[in-house]
Amino acid sequence: MVLIENVEKAQEALRGHLRVCDSAVAFTGAGLSTECGIPDFRSADSAWRRHPPIPFKDFVDDPDARALAWRRKFAMDDLTAGAQPGRGHRALTRLMEDGIVRSIVTQNIDGLHQAAGAPADRIVELHGNGGYATCLSCGCRHELKDVRPRFEASGAAPECACGGAVKSATVAFGQKMPQEALRRARAASLDCDLFLAIGTSLVVYPAAAFPVLAKENGAALVIVNGEATPLDQTADLVLRGDIGAILAPFALHAEK
Ligand code: APR
Repeated sequence: MVLIENVEKAQEALRGHLRVCDSAVAFTGAGLSTECGIPDFRSADSAWRRHPPIPFKDFVDDPDARALAWRRKFAMDDLTAGAQPGRGHRALTRLMEDGIVRSIVTQNIDGLHQAAGAPADRIVELHGNGGYATCLSCGCRHELKDVRPRFEASGAAPECACGGAVKSATVAFGQKMPQEALRRARAASLDCDLFLAIGTSLVVYPAAAFPVLAKENGAALVIVNGEATPLDQTADLVLRGDIGAILAPFALHAEK
């Protein structure tokens, strides 16, 4: 493993990998979006510590836990309202347009890859999307702009017309992972020769198994993150520093 902490040298090393690869996958986590004002999960001052997510079993079993989950969801939404894609998102869109990055596998639920112009059919959302809700019984989609006023007026967790519980379209702890997303993430991991893990602590499974799968299948593994991860020793290259600063020159528009 080679560790680089100097920004210019990190960019040079990344350029080297991008130049020689045929097909790259970007695997992204919350660290990509912190510069957009969206807190990550495991940093000491994360807002998630004040509004911790409710485990799936509690959500299903307990109406009070469901209402609390919605209160926390909307509190987090208020904190992150209006977030725009950052330099990392724009860089990955640019690398897709250049035909270097073929797909983005993301743990993020913020929709910022799509907002940065990456084609939706090349983005795999492993943990769902926080921009809408679904009924846990019939699966139909509910828009937050309809759910929120009803919830705020009644204080009761929203229900679908079918009587099912309505939940944010994200994957809670203990909830089954979306099988199609897992299948696509696996296929992408096995079909690349460069795997870029960006802004993730690489501690949450099964998501964190994909970098290992790609590496075992012969891809080069490059980790871009501000702190050490448990997979650093497995990686070919670790670029430690601020993601936006490292990826800025790869972005769609030159930074002002
Ligand atoms: N530059 C570099 N690194 C950063 C930056 C930044 N600007 N901001 C944050 N980081 C790093 C943090 O130091 C941390 O190592 O990004 C990493 C984010 O890790 P987590 O907070 O654990 O986020 P993530 O890996 O995406 O979490 C995985 O856990 O609870 C869940 O479902 C949730 O998808 C999420 C999953």
